[in-house]
Amino acid sequence: MSALTDLYQEISLCRQCEIARARTRVVPGEGAENAEILFIGEAPGWHEDQQGRPFVGPAGQFLDSLLSSINLKRQQVYIANVIKCRPPDNREPLPIEIANCQKWLDKQIEIISPKIIVTLGRYSMARFFPGKSISKIHGTVQKQNGIIYFAMYHPAAALHQGNLRQVIEQDMLKLPSLLTQAQTQTETSEETATESDSQPQQLSMF
Ligand code: URA
Repeated sequence: MSALTDLYQEISLCRQCEIARARTRVVPGEGAENAEILFIGEAPGWHEDQQGRPFVGPAGQFLDSLLSSINLKRQQVYIANVIKCRPPDNREPLPIEIANCQKWLDKQIEIISPKIIVTLGRYSMARFFPGKSISKIHGTVQKQNGIIYFAMYHPAAALHQGNLRQVIEQDMLKLPSLLTQAQTQTETSEETATESDSQPQQLSMF
């Protein structure tokens, strides 16, 4: 069994929050165990809860089309959420639910060891860009501990506010050159790693 399959098993046994009792299926995440890009959304919705897979509803269809705009398929990346169970009536996740679920996301990041983490929406952004506003930092990057963090609006935002669709599409188009940059950095990082790498660094690229 792979490390991720073992982890899915553990996640499926988790009953730490009330919402675990109401879920149809847990939604741990899916994709390549060695993915270079990890997308992190908010929480499963109705469709995801039914299927046990992330981003399979209308927001997921838009995410798929964003991925194909940069010639990627979802099997080549990894897609997860901040929380793994659906909040009833699609309400926003509670701080306690986010805190309880943090260990699962941390383990996913450790196993996948992505070069780039793309935060989709406010909840995911808040984890890596605390205190920042999505309207100000979408489309920008920050580097820490060898990982590039890239903030984007949640794909569902385009379904509610049509004017954001183009913004999200444009932000997505920045990913291929970021990935090239990340791949180049990995090749040289072993020799050049410094203490400052553990401090957040704004990259000036965009
Ligand atoms: N929205 C999310 O944040 N995650 C999903 O998996 C689906 C919709």
